[in-house]
This record gives sequence, structure tokens and C-alpha cells, in this order.
Amino acid sequence: MNEPGPTEWGTGPGVGPWDGPLPDDDRYDPELLRDGDTRNVVDAYRYWTRAAIVADIDRRRHPLHVAIENFGNDANIGTVVRTANAFAVDTVHIVGKRRWNRRGAMVTDRYQRLRHHATTEDLLAFAAEAGLEVVAVDNVPGAVPLERTRLPRHCLLIFGQEGPGITDAARLGAATTVSIAQFGSTRSINAAVAAGIAMHAWIMAHADTSQAW
Ligand SMILES: C[S@@+](CC[C@H](N)C(=O)[O-])C[C@H]1O[C@@H](n2cnc3c(N)ncnc32)[C@H](O)[C@@H]1O
Repeated sequence: MNEPGPTEWGTGPGVGPWDGPLPDDDRYDPELLRDGDTRNVVDAYRYWTRAAIVADIDRRRHPLHVAIENFGNDANIGTVVRTANAFAVDTVHIVGKRRWNRRGAMVTDRYQRLRHHATTEDLLAFAAEAGLEVVAVDNVPGAVPLERTRLPRHCLLIFGQEGPGITDAARLGAATTVSIAQFGSTRSINAAVAAGIAMHAWIMAHADTSQAW
């Protein structure tokens, strides 16, 4: 039988109290060692403090940023944050309203860098300063197929919201707009699904997958 993988230590939603001599390492949280760890974290991080986990991911974050426009109240943001966490995205940028529904994030927002920008112009100014190439993601006229595009390494992907889609400011401020090929009847796919596909396209182009869990 294969050795258990990094997410397969325990059987249930977590692990019980630490078994055996306690580790002498300040990445471990004394309370979790004593009581067990039922958080949604990979097994490599079991019993670690949240600060130690964030510090470890920070060492390995990809030069990929994602932004989602939140001028209405987009229910997809939590899912985007969770996916961004899974791919060790540098930062998730929320543009527009500061408040967003954290439910879909499944607590991953505690481990993910998040930044708010009041306007798309503020976001674009940040990207210019940070040396990020801006790619808008929407199936609008003039978009080029994501499937035939190599995303830039130092990249900011901007997603629009359900209903209105990407703003003109984001589309005009981006170096490129990419669309995801569709074949059915719907005019568009869910924004969080689109974000997952585009983030993974970046991973396929630039990440060292030998370092994945
Ligand atoms: C549900 S869409 C709304 C707008 C969409 N242009 C329409 O005509 O219905 C919300 C967001 O999801 C992303 N999206 C949805 N379908 C996409 C596709 N086929 N290609 C690229 N992005 C897509 C875009 O970021 C878009 O702004």
C-alpha cells in the first residue's frame, strides 16, 4: 500500500491530541497539541500555529495576484479566496465594497493575504507600482482565448462580477483580456469557476508542481 499523502494522516475532519513526546519547535501550538487539531489545513501543518502556517506559505507564494470586482455584493469572493489560498496566490484584491461574504472561504481567508481597493483605478495603480502585468478575464469582444495565451509570470488577473461582468476601467486598464472557451448555451460561467480555471492556467505555465502537496 502507498504511504499516506500529506492530507491523509487522519481519518476524520482532524486529528486528536498529539501522541508521544511533545515536539520542541515553536511552530507548534501548545493548545492544539493538547486538544487536537480539527482545522481545514493540510496534514503538513497539523498542530502548527496560524502565524507559522502563514509564514511558511509567505515564503512560497507565487507572483500571481487576483482581483475581483465587488461593486454589488458578489457571493463568489469566498470561493475565489479559497482557491487562491490553495494555489499560494500572493494576494487577493477586493475592489469596491469592503464587505464580502466569507462563507465560501471556509476560513482560508485567515491564511491568505487580502487587500482592499476602493476603485479599479486604485487597483491598477497598485499593479503598475508592483510591476504586475494586468490581465482582465471575461468573454467580451476583443478577448483572446486563454487556451492559446501564456499568462505573464508577474501577473494580476481581474475578474468581473455576476451580472455586469468586468468593468470598462478594468478592461481598458489591462494589457490583455482573456476568455475561457465555452461550447454550451450559457453566456458565461460562474465567476469563481472562471477564476479557478484562470488561476490554474497560471499554475500550469509557471508553478513548480514538484513542490505541490
Ligand atoms: C457571470 S460573468 C458575467 C458577465 C459575462 N460577460 C456575461 O456576458 O454573462 C462574471 C465573471 O465571470 C468571469 N467569466 C465568466 N465566464 C467567463 C468566460 N467564458 N471567460 C472568461 N471569464 C469568464 C468573468 O470574470 C466575468 O466578469
